[in-house]
Amino acid sequence: MNYQWYPGHMTKAKRMMQEDIRLIDLIIEITDARAPLSSRNPDIDELGKNKFRLILLNKSDLADPVQNKKWIAFFEKKGYAVLEINAKTGAGMRSIQDSIRQVCREKIERDKKRGIVNRPIRAMVVGIPNVGKSTFINSFVKKACAKTGNKPGVTKGKQWIRVNSALELLDTPGILWPKFEDQTVGMKLAFIGSINDEIIIMQEMAVDLLMFLTREYPALLEERYGFSFAELSQGDSGAGGECEAHPELTEEKNTAIACLAQIARVRKCFDKGETLNYDKAAALLIDDFRSGRIGRITLEYPAEEG
Ligand code: G4P
Repeated sequence: MNYQWYPGHMTKAKRMMQEDIRLIDLIIEITDARAPLSSRNPDIDELGKNKFRLILLNKSDLADPVQNKKWIAFFEKKGYAVLEINAKTGAGMRSIQDSIRQVCREKIERDKKRGIVNRPIRAMVVGIPNVGKSTFINSFVKKACAKTGNKPGVTKGKQWIRVNSALELLDTPGILWPKFEDQTVGMKLAFIGSINDEIIIMQEMAVDLLMFLTREYPALLEERYGFSFAELSQGDSGAGGECEAHPELTEEKNTAIACLAQIARVRKCFDKGETLNYDKAAALLIDDFRSGRIGRITLEYPAEEG
């Protein structure tokens, strides 16, 4: 399948981002820990080139813990401050204030030397769709604060949230647009739900996901759906349609199709009679993956040499 993203409002989004970035000291960039590179938009490095930077690997609860550590090392080596968090529960978020102080220490020192006291660091949260920006903002400021309201002149029309005396956050996140030419990047963005499902053929996405999972996490699949690869019938052509096993397809793809058929059977995804309903099985698989029910899975790994 061809994974696509239509850059509808990209120009407007980029202009707004440029305006907002002028107002801040620090960019808090949220990525999805399951695909930390694919879920970044590299344009942010150019847009925010003179700003302090903090990367948050969000949804770390859904990602492979071993890979989370490797990704942290990867981004640290590139000079970013980086933390793994779960914005939904707040796990890992206690360290954020310390990290911010650390990464912005130059500004804090500079202000001090100039006799400026109590000037808070201004930050904004950015990220592509569905990485958890809103969840993060809600959870981060939950205990903290009231909105500070408009600040005429400097920040016309902008709402700032006063997190504490040292930090203010722009209350609306900056939405970055997915950016990819590489189809495997598009595919991973589709898996994690950052590309609109309406333009995706579910069965094909499910087969692509199963090809990855059978290669990298076969035991998790076996455990979740109660089958073993050794017993999987390779010639399973199931219901036909877009999802038919075929001798001309690669062995890997045929295995994935057989796997989807097995999931349909185990989860009783049938049409009238005994015909397997692959659409239902595909939707179920994708939903299981996205909510972590298959297990903690990372879709891409940092190159060993960084
Ligand atoms: P966005 O602003 O970047 O577009 O993302 P948003 O906060 O709307 O979060 C997208 C989905 O990801 C939400 O799920 C949210 O609950 C979930 N989410 C955010 N952070 C985390 C995290 O650290 N771990 C996990 N497991 N999930 C996270 P949803 O299905 O759209 O809503 P709901 O089912 O939570 O109500």
